[in-house]
Amino acid sequence: MADAASEETLSNLLHEDREFPPDQAFTEQAVGKAELYDQAAADRETFWADQARARLAWSKDFTQTLDWSEAPFAKWFADGQLNAAYNCVDRHVEAGNGDRVALHFVGEPGDTQDITYADLLDRVKRAANVLLESGVSKGDRVAIYLPMIPEAVVAMLACARIGAPHSVVFGGFSSDALRTRIADAEAKLVITADGGYRRGKPSGLKSAVDEAVAQSPSVGKVLVVRRTEQDVEWDDQRDVWWHEALEAASPEHEAEPMDAEHPLFILYTSGTTGKPKGIFHTTAGYLMQAAYTNAVVHDVHPEKDVYWCAADIGWVTGHSYIVYGPLANGATQVMYEGTPDTPHQGRWWEIVQQHQVSILYCAPTAIRTFMKWGKEIPAKFDLSSLRVLGSVGEPINPEAWIWYREVIGGGKTPVVDTWWQTETGAIMISALPGVTSLKPGAAQLAVPGISVDVVDEQGRSVENGHGGYLVIDQPWPSMLRGIWGDPERFKETYWSRFPGIYFAGDGAKKDDQGNIWVLGRVDDVMNVSGHRLSTTEIESALVSHPKVAEAAVVGASDATTGQAVCAFVILRGDAVQEADEEGEGGDLVAELRNHVAKEIGAIAKPRQIMVVAELPKTRSGKIMRRLLRDVAENREVGDVTTLADSSVMDLIKEGMSKPS
Ligand code: WT7
Repeated sequence: MADAASEETLSNLLHEDREFPPDQAFTEQAVGKAELYDQAAADRETFWADQARARLAWSKDFTQTLDWSEAPFAKWFADGQLNAAYNCVDRHVEAGNGDRVALHFVGEPGDTQDITYADLLDRVKRAANVLLESGVSKGDRVAIYLPMIPEAVVAMLACARIGAPHSVVFGGFSSDALRTRIADAEAKLVITADGGYRRGKPSGLKSAVDEAVAQSPSVGKVLVVRRTEQDVEWDDQRDVWWHEALEAASPEHEAEPMDAEHPLFILYTSGTTGKPKGIFHTTAGYLMQAAYTNAVVHDVHPEKDVYWCAADIGWVTGHSYIVYGPLANGATQVMYEGTPDTPHQGRWWEIVQQHQVSILYCAPTAIRTFMKWGKEIPAKFDLSSLRVLGSVGEPINPEAWIWYREVIGGGKTPVVDTWWQTETGAIMISALPGVTSLKPGAAQLAVPGISVDVVDEQGRSVENGHGGYLVIDQPWPSMLRGIWGDPERFKETYWSRFPGIYFAGDGAKKDDQGNIWVLGRVDDVMNVSGHRLSTTEIESALVSHPKVAEAAVVGASDATTGQAVCAFVILRGDAVQEADEEGEGGDLVAELRNHVAKEIGAIAKPRQIMVVAELPKTRSGKIMRRLLRDVAENREVGDVTTLADSSVMDLIKEGMSKPS
């Protein structure tokens, strides 16, 4: 915890004392919200039971709220039954809101679709029938590898409807990454598209699926959405066009009630080892907490708001705050396919203006990019419809927070910084708009019903004004139920550092009023543009290249992306010679960067690769990444006394100062 970088952040944050009390008009409409804290404090389980009954439609009521007898494996509302897709779609149509728009879809090339809840229901029912006819039964896993198009939402809900857990793989991940995820979950079917639009160009997806599926014995069928109309290879035995199948399918399908603890999805995330973890979530607790937080934190009022979460469906933010939370609440939302600068840098603000977006949820890295582009760009658009802004994925620096509120929010909107993880399923720490006095840069308080703390090495709660490790000390409804196929790793990763309490992997600090400031990861996990990447995973990708003998990866701070991937590599003997002959090997660096992109995905491409002769190691052989981070961040190198060979750092620094 006491590493130089976080000490520095800590002292900067200690000087941040700006505060924004809630606007009176806002407080007046935030009826009943402040009381949630007292209600939850009075009896946490009763609070969650009330929320579960109020926010979800049950086919069978539950009698027990929480079963923690096999901790850390929780069961919430276990003898209740419900269907997640019914809760997200059918019930809104049955309540007479079938004509309400569920999705204002905006394609990157400019095509749009307004999909009502009634339209969505028709598509989800047909897709459920297609899955069943393709041999997918309750409990079977389905992999989804799609761009940000409405079919992604339909596909997820169709899986939920028939009780087939989905495993969405981000469309930017490589074919290899897709293959390992398919194998781990033994997915029976893959839903993909010919391609999607990014930066004005159609990118391919089907070819990556073909490559992955060729080595995936579990997969019998591939459903292909037609999006870009590019040419694709076709296997008549295996591949089926989505639009043809949906058209032919029956529009009738009754949602089958599932047990509250029926698995809803698996979502892979990077851990501290090379193998991604299949985080798995179940139905009721997850759905309820996603809906609850979307209502109280984002302040979504479905009858009047237009909400936009600018995340990708491939990450948990898209699962909880594009699909399950807002749809369970019956909200109207915007879904945008592409990048923020296509065809111009005002694309987001044009969308806000056109659809009168009132709530926007995005990542600090996006905000910092907009800051870089300049406030003249959003100034060209009418953003007065915005009334709540949210941030997620990484710490938001106070300057970005202020810019977001001033330039995008017209100096009046609350900005909520929401801390949570793939594992937590839903927002855990955040201010409540209209209730909390806002502190730029702090995630602030556990949402009502949640209990978090900051503890020291021994697991003791720290006093206000001190830092330590962020933990969650009470079970919560949307908590992960495990790591797919690996219960031991689940216990070991989250529950062994401080027995009986959940260790989040983040460092945090409490200020004098007990507000929580999240400082970032304390393990070998990087946060690049709000996406979690494992140092070990990138190291393994690098050493799988024939020219690399050894690699060490660190996350160095970066003004836009939060952290950036920096790699130090030792070449194999013959490669060293080759690089010398070619003169420092610029091509080699490009080759290695592309190799990482091929192995994992473009997001994992190192910003920098430095070829070195040695790596700094302790006597027991552990790489001291702290020292490499000093080099990558151009800092004075810290304490080297525990190095087996202290001259190694001089060698590395010397190498760095040579012009490349
Ligand atoms: C990690 C979880 C939650 C959805 C997106 C990322 C970091 C997340 C914040 C925040 C500081 C944050 C943490 C966390 N993180 N939100 N508001 N302030 N850090 O989900 O990929 O599971 O990553 O993201 O380090 O552990 P994820």
